[in-house]
Amino acid sequence: MTSNLDSIEIIEVGPRDGLQNIPEFVPTETKVALVRALIASGFKRLEVGSFVSPKAIPQMRDMDDVARMIGPLPGVRGMVLVPNSKGARRAIAAGFSDLELVISMSDAHNISNVRRPTADSIADLRVLLNEIDPARELTLRIGMATSFHCPFDGLMDETKVLSTLETLVGLREGMEFAISDTTGMALPMHVKSLCRQAIANFGGQATFAFHGHDTASFGVANVLAATEAGIRIIDASVGGLGGCPYAPGASGNISSEDLVYLFQRMGVQTGIDLEKLLLAGDIATALPGAVTGSHIRKMPRDRLTGITPDPVAVSRKALKC
Ligand code: COA
Ligand code: ZN
Repeated sequence: MTSNLDSIEIIEVGPRDGLQNIPEFVPTETKVALVRALIASGFKRLEVGSFVSPKAIPQMRDMDDVARMIGPLPGVRGMVLVPNSKGARRAIAAGFSDLELVISMSDAHNISNVRRPTADSIADLRVLLNEIDPARELTLRIGMATSFHCPFDGLMDETKVLSTLETLVGLREGMEFAISDTTGMALPMHVKSLCRQAIANFGGQATFAFHGHDTASFGVANVLAATEAGIRIIDASVGGLGGCPYAPGASGNISSEDLVYLFQRMGVQTGIDLEKLLLAGDIATALPGAVTGSHIRKMPRDRLTGITPDPVAVSRKALKC
């Protein structure tokens, strides 16, 4: 049964998904300043980077330095993306205990992104899980890339995606799965349908999140569709920056500012201070090569202060509709 939409956890992925697509190298100090500004705006979980091949994503070549400079983050979960077990070992050695392993639901994108078919990534995950000491506090999330559309194969077959998900869910209890619209082409009804089935079939063994892009401008509609399906964890990127360099044609993530503004007007708690988030976004969007997809950043700042829930949102909630 779907619970009331009273609060949403937004995971900020800008320092990873936002920066990975920027060709010009962002100095380590700026990356760290961005992470600190995002934490100051209230995020309790954020993706601070990725342990990938520096040849594949040169932007992330300073990940060990970023980790060292950020240091421990009391009360905040710093997550990192890894493309394989080697990346996971590097991340664990650098002190991270929140890992996101990206596995594409389509072979073609997995091969383009991490140079192996999906089944080989799953086999590598098995190796990793066998290595991890069960006593160790480690949170594993699977980024289910191309859950809806593949840039090479087009529309994904829902049954096939759910079958891959079933295999993954069976590998370890308690993992989180980010159902991802990597290309930003998914329709809201597709998002709702897949998220609903994932929760119905596997909600007892796993947690689900939605990760979307805004290529076709359906980003916010897709977030709302995911929440209607029962998802309560949403990824977003400051400034709406981002995109997968191995998904040609995909544009930025759903903007964190747009989502916080939306949820504030809907009377849904996010724990994020919009004014401080806009300041963090000033750092991100000023980076050379950054392309912002945020809508509310185009609004005058004085219209973005002191946002209270719209009466219509409050009354509809009281009616539970
Ligand atoms: N981090 C750093 N180096 C890595 C690595 C990792 N996670 N995984 C592999 N490597 C190194 C290997 O040690 C090897 O190094 P060497 O040439 O010095 O011997 C080299 O990369 C090649 O290894 P191989 O296993 O053949 O990898 P590959 O060249 O096929 O690349 C990936 C595979 C996964 C490492 C690479 O495609 C990658 O990092 N992709 C990430 C893509 C991404 O971040 N996309 C956006 C997020 S969805
Ligand atoms: Zn993404």
